Amino acid sequence: MLHVIEHPLITHKLAIMRDKNTKTKDFRENLDEIAGLMAYEICRDLPTVDVKVETPITTCMTKKLAKDIVLVPILRAGLGLVNGISALIPSCKVGFIGMYRDEETLLPHEYFAKFPMMDEATVMVLDPMLATGGSAAAAITNIKKRGAKDIRLVCLVGAPEGVKAIQEAHPDVDIYLAALDDHLNEKGYIVPGLGDAGDRIFGTK
Ligand code: PRP
Ligand code: URA
Repeated sequence: MLHVIEHPLITHKLAIMRDKNTKTKDFRENLDEIAGLMAYEICRDLPTVDVKVETPITTCMTKKLAKDIVLVPILRAGLGLVNGISALIPSCKVGFIGMYRDEETLLPHEYFAKFPMMDEATVMVLDPMLATGGSAAAAITNIKKRGAKDIRLVCLVGAPEGVKAIQEAHPDVDIYLAALDDHLNEKGYIVPGLGDAGDRIFGTK
């Protein structure tokens, strides 16, 4: 299922990120803040278990999260979403998968992978940009091979082409976006988009 999280604060911060004049510091800070706002929505339906807690006054039954949360940023740009989400889920574990997209073929290439146990966890795959969907689809395929069954894909900006690719390759994976943009241009960039997320987060190019 596709969830586009619409909220005036998210749209405002994303407008700052889209602006080509926004510099690295402000770009990163706004990404961090949007990630936190999105996390609140993405976690809304996480499973919980009943627990007994002794308060200073009495004993009560309440609830805690039932499953481990694993964040898997797709390097590099996915790293930009980790701080904002882990601030809300400090007990989360973090895995990593490195993918780069060939500029000519637009095909993804994996160059690094390191994961915690994911069999029983809710896994959130993080990448600000869902363009053709090739990188996210390949990352999710790898993550499933390592035993993950409950996977959510968290992106900032998506193109319809990328959403369709994930829905076809991984119909069991929910997709969360802050914005669904219009289309991809001839170079595979999202239009209107925000340019190259990795370069803008890390100040390269
Ligand atoms: C970007 C982005 C995604 C990918 C999206 O990464 O962060 O991972 O492209 O494109 P796709 O949906 O068509 O696969 P890039 O390959 O530029 O690497 P980087 O994060 O190291 O900059
Ligand atoms: N990767 C990016 O960083 N931006 C795009 O628009 C497409 C792929």
